[in-house]
Amino acid sequence: MSIQIFRGTRRAVAAVAFAFAIIAGANAQSAQPAAGNPLPDAEVSARADALIAKMTPEEKAGQITQYFNIAFIPGQSEGVQAEVAAGRAGSLLFVTDPAEIDRLQHIAVDKTRLKIPLLFAFDVIHGLRTIMPVPIAVAASWDPKVAEDGQRVAAAEARASGLHWTFAPMVDIARDPRWGRIVEGAGEDPYLGAAMAAAQVRGFQGDYLGSPGHLISGPKHFAGYGAALGGRDYDEVDLSDSELWNTYLPPFKAAIDAGAGNIMSAYMGLNGVPATGNRWLLTDVLRKEWGFKGFVVTDAGAAYDLLTHEFASSTTDAGVRALQAGIDMEMSPPFGAPSVYKMLPQSLAGGTITTAELDTAVRRVLVAKIRMGLFEKPYVDLKQAKRVLADPQHRVVSRAAAERTAVLLRNEGGLLPLDKNKIKSIAVIGPLADSARDTLGPWVFAHDLNETVTVLAGIKASAGSNVRVDYSPGVTMPARFHPTFFDTMPGSAAKRDEVDDASELPRAVAMAKASDMTVLVLGEAQNMIGELASRSSLDLPGRQQELLEAVIATGKPVVVLLMTARPLDLKNSKPGALMNIWYPGTKGGTAVANLLFGEVSPGGKLPYAWPRTIGQIPLPYAQLRSHQPKTAEERYQNELGSPLYPFGFGLSYSTFEFSNLKVERPMVAPGESVPVSVDVRNTGSRDADEVAQLYIHQRYGSSARPVRELKGFQRVTLKPGETRTIRFTLTPAELSYWTSAMHSWVQDETTFDVYVGNSSQAALTTTFEVGKSKR
Ligand code: BGC
Repeated sequence: MSIQIFRGTRRAVAAVAFAFAIIAGANAQSAQPAAGNPLPDAEVSARADALIAKMTPEEKAGQITQYFNIAFIPGQSEGVQAEVAAGRAGSLLFVTDPAEIDRLQHIAVDKTRLKIPLLFAFDVIHGLRTIMPVPIAVAASWDPKVAEDGQRVAAAEARASGLHWTFAPMVDIARDPRWGRIVEGAGEDPYLGAAMAAAQVRGFQGDYLGSPGHLISGPKHFAGYGAALGGRDYDEVDLSDSELWNTYLPPFKAAIDAGAGNIMSAYMGLNGVPATGNRWLLTDVLRKEWGFKGFVVTDAGAAYDLLTHEFASSTTDAGVRALQAGIDMEMSPPFGAPSVYKMLPQSLAGGTITTAELDTAVRRVLVAKIRMGLFEKPYVDLKQAKRVLADPQHRVVSRAAAERTAVLLRNEGGLLPLDKNKIKSIAVIGPLADSARDTLGPWVFAHDLNETVTVLAGIKASAGSNVRVDYSPGVTMPARFHPTFFDTMPGSAAKRDEVDDASELPRAVAMAKASDMTVLVLGEAQNMIGELASRSSLDLPGRQQELLEAVIATGKPVVVLLMTARPLDLKNSKPGALMNIWYPGTKGGTAVANLLFGEVSPGGKLPYAWPRTIGQIPLPYAQLRSHQPKTAEERYQNELGSPLYPFGFGLSYSTFEFSNLKVERPMVAPGESVPVSVDVRNTGSRDADEVAQLYIHQRYGSSARPVRELKGFQRVTLKPGETRTIRFTLTPAELSYWTSAMHSWVQDETTFDVYVGNSSQAALTTTFEVGKSKR
């Protein structure tokens, strides 16, 4: 017996009340809808309509066109400024200098007929000037507050600089670490992804759209982009409806429930229909089913891509089909793809679009401008910008975030934390140990390298004068095989030490031998991950593996710090300790030193499973049980089937014990909630954090369900000996899912297993029944 949702059964009526929450995967830990904007809807609409009534078709098409304004591309900015002055641009992206934003805004407001200010947008992904750890690292904190606080700081800096809108968070689920953009999201899990999505939206936007010091948040890329074939960026995506609804859409729904004012459409085709021309996705799901009220922007040039995808017949047709699918604003790139929204006036004259269709998109963009207060306060307060960008408190937030994101993967014999009073010398080795630019990670453009603390600098500052710290890059980080546009941007080049590997590698090994211990900082350069940075290998680039093995062979204690945002294959190398430090941001080196020397204990957990080899990909923990489950480890004849480190895994300097797992109501009716509690005890000898993770497993029902699914988590700090009772509530939202059997949401009458512990392999278990009880 099951309850179908969105279908006309009698039981569905009772179920509808929680149906929307189900899609969000919402529970106590996820999104709370943002409070309403103080401006009444009717007033905002009336103001927008009054403007629309005065606009020509060309001004309307311009209002829903966003141009890149890239000063370092000769002639590009001049052309854009001419469009702005003619009232044919609604928004600009890629300007971050407050004075330049102010100057451009003056053109829009002072020179144009209708004086409509521009929306200034930018990819404020993990900070503007103060750089937070990369988003996947923040997900590894398993602490939505880290995400919210970091994006609040990012929003404050961006808004003070004159920006109004960020293309973030990226909420695409990523289950293939070859895909470079895994760094921008929250990893493989929809529940963790939904919690991080909502927290980031809250941080960016504040209590309502237009909150002072905040931005419009634009979750992206709608939808399915993370499932690119072969992990190759921009490649097609083919997802079953079950995968789409249960795995890829929940973070978007959570972001929208948290009040996101914008959505960005994706580049690729979803099941053969380009996402940017996909009316089912952009209108039926986004607006009709989810009630999204904001505006939708394309990814850069994605409306023109309707032609590239061999979907539209001409640029004119591409504009028409994007608009009619539900795209409000076209993001028009600086090269390679002419604006297709420029053709809209022609389409209007020819009758292929209606005035109502065009006005709907224009209205949504104007509403955003009105709500953001642009008509009252279009310009930038340059003094305020300077003050906010320099706020030392922002750097404190960045350091604290980095401390909470590190994931300790190995710690043989308690090698970490290091004792400054016992160690006399440390060799810090590796091409990423002293690279400020790499420490920040990709997708940052307005940072300050001078205030960035590298791992070497952090260790030196923390170790004190009694510990000798020597440094060698060891080997050179190779260049990318295919350079990208991002490498040409000012400030993007890493000032990394270039060495002759033949002489430097032996010098580094000799240094390791002559020191009490070695800290090796290895991984991928920041431009080896991110957009257009997929890899066909998980190996350490260049000769880093050789360096790693040679340093381990010295027999001295070795701590490896991995600067990466995807799992890497270290070929069974077994350093004493291994910690994933991600790209930890502006104060990354300070945070890492605090972790190494035990000022704080690592408490991060993997937001994805870490495969043994690339051949295991994809390897999500939430798999379905299948024929001969006992042979799951033997599905490859040459390799174990399980990951090297499971999803949710991460060690601490302390130890924890879970006990007393209780389901308060072992029998519930469909539609009822199930309270669950568990005791967590710090059994070690230092203050430390643990993440209690709750997984469910449905034993039978309308569809087969994964062996485990995350449905609750809480990160807690406990003193030695302290026990805390943690409570979760499994609502009908957590117990329901989309079934392909009936093409609807369903809550089955069935038996559930519950597992609670500190990874997806948690052992403590109990069960409860849904539907067998009669109240
Ligand atoms: C990316 C988007 C980004 C946009 C603007 C695109 O290439 O896919 O995520 O927001 O550029 O920079």
